[in-house]
Amino acid sequence: MPGLVGDILGIVLRFLHIVFGVMWIGAVFYGVGVLRVALPRVDMPARKAVLRHLLPVAIHYIPVSAIMTIITGAILYLYLGQFQGVILLGTEWGRILLGALLLTLATFAYGMVIVIGAGKAIARHLEEEEACNHQAEVGALQRRFNVGQIVVLVLGLVIIAIMVYVSEAL
Ligand code: HEM
Repeated sequence: MPGLVGDILGIVLRFLHIVFGVMWIGAVFYGVGVLRVALPRVDMPARKAVLRHLLPVAIHYIPVSAIMTIITGAILYLYLGQFQGVILLGTEWGRILLGALLLTLATFAYGMVIVIGAGKAIARHLEEEEACNHQAEVGALQRRFNVGQIVVLVLGLVIIAIMVYVSEAL
């Protein structure tokens, strides 16, 4: 799309894509770097109370920001390739971005199944009244949640590195 409107559209798309990417990977970073370290230091009743309120928000917030990152990234990719297969698949940056899209979709799917799946299961246990005797099960879920978050974070950093590389190549 030539002209001023096209330029503004490109800038708005880039801005939104970077904001949603920061929201997604920033939230995962915060989970790994701050919450994973701080929460085990909180005594159990307070930790349960915090998690009971925190998990439902995180379970909603993170997938939505991930989906918005992917949608804005895919539109930006198509826009930069002028919606033409020869550019999108026939250039090096086009193929790299297609790879980034597939890697991001795989990261999202992994995060949904492993991290969000574990988060939802933990939230269900927290909803149980006082006598939840599933400490071993919840412990395993928490480990799955923590390890899964680290995997998503590492993949997210790889994707950001690809973005930076492509921006230089464009
Ligand atoms: C974890 C997911 C992602 C994150 C955190 C992310 C983040 C970013 C960031 C920070 C930039 C700016 C880089 C720079 O200017 O140096 C960027 C650019 C870009 N991203 Fe993503 N991105 C993600 C996924 C995707 C996906 C799935 C696509 C779709 C193919 C995509 C397509 C693009 C495009 C086309 C640009 C613009 C390059 C340019 O105009 O210079 N991104 N991304």
